[in-house]
Amino acid sequence: MVILGIESSCDETAASIVRDGREILSSVIASQIGLHRPFGGVVPELASREHLLKIEPIVFQACAEANVSLNDVDAVAVTQGPGLIGSLLVGVCYAKALAFGLDIPFIGVNHIEGHVYSVAFENPTVEYPALALIVSGGHTNLFYIPEAGKYKVVSRTRDDAAGEAFDKVAKMLGLGYPGGPVIENLAKEGDPKKVKFTLPKISDGRPDFSFSGLKTAVVRHIRENSIEPVADGAQPSQEIKDLAASFQATVVKSLVGTMKKLAIEMSPKTLIVAGGVACNGALRSAAEAAGTDLGLPVYFPSKHLATDNAAMIAAAGYAHLIRGSQSDLTMTADITMRLQNFENEDAELKRKRVRYRL
Ligand code: KG4
Ligand code: ZN
Repeated sequence: MVILGIESSCDETAASIVRDGREILSSVIASQIGLHRPFGGVVPELASREHLLKIEPIVFQACAEANVSLNDVDAVAVTQGPGLIGSLLVGVCYAKALAFGLDIPFIGVNHIEGHVYSVAFENPTVEYPALALIVSGGHTNLFYIPEAGKYKVVSRTRDDAAGEAFDKVAKMLGLGYPGGPVIENLAKEGDPKKVKFTLPKISDGRPDFSFSGLKTAVVRHIRENSIEPVADGAQPSQEIKDLAASFQATVVKSLVGTMKKLAIEMSPKTLIVAGGVACNGALRSAAEAAGTDLGLPVYFPSKHLATDNAAMIAAAGYAHLIRGSQSDLTMTADITMRLQNFENEDAELKRKRVRYRL
């Protein structure tokens, strides 16, 4: 089955042709990083206007590179949410119109579920239950996945996402956007033990993440040590490299420490680490080491599949379709779409039990 995936939730217009949920025939991504760089972050209005210009050429390019025509496409999968409303609407409306015109199924996919499926291409089939750490610019969650398509959030961030913390710290240090890759590169030449940052304790004891305190600690460190942001074209100082390494090590410790703790409690058969921050080498090594300690396989997407792309959306769409689920044309973009249906199902079962006195 040939699926066309479309992703436009934030600042990438992407289209991909995927066969049977596992074979990427093409994956085209038009990044808007250059457009937003002068503003130090994504400008929503600019993003949606750019998606409008790019969506059709990108879809046509994906078909051409895969050597398929639109008539060979069996279904269209598109990111329904979460994301920026204008950006999402461009993808959703385009996908709907295409599916309607071609008279083929249409599937709205949760972007975060797409990240979970980004491991479908280069790893063995996921064995369930799985525990997935999804870390990106907008999200930091751990999901318990008892079976394909069922998700329970077991840890979330109380404030910033991990990628957002990387981006904000990079901005403070004058390192540009997106911050993750620059910080990772500087960290390679820095001492991760140089600056002592402490991880926040969540007062209600839930295994949640919090990165805004760490960001404040970085601001304080910058002020107390009179660290100047790196000027355009200048070489970052050793002090900045040490700060980058120490910050990164603290984020990684928090992410992997929590994943390991929950894995011990929940006994999954597979660990998944995905989302843009999963490009980070330090995070990958620490997660690998945790998997080895626990005797569990850890599946990562390769870097080009870790950041936003449409192949992962097509793979998730395929999984929906083979389970017999698809969207109808009344579906629309959902900016706050959540990925949590396992607990809901529990609640639904409980309600039924009460109703029927089972
Ligand atoms: O998944 P993604 O492409 O978009 C969202 O859905 O948010 O993730 C983008 C995020 C950005 O915050 C970026 O700084 C971060 O992923 N990122 C990294 C690295 N590469 C990208 N963070 C840490 N280390 C990296 N190497
Ligand atoms: Zn993403």
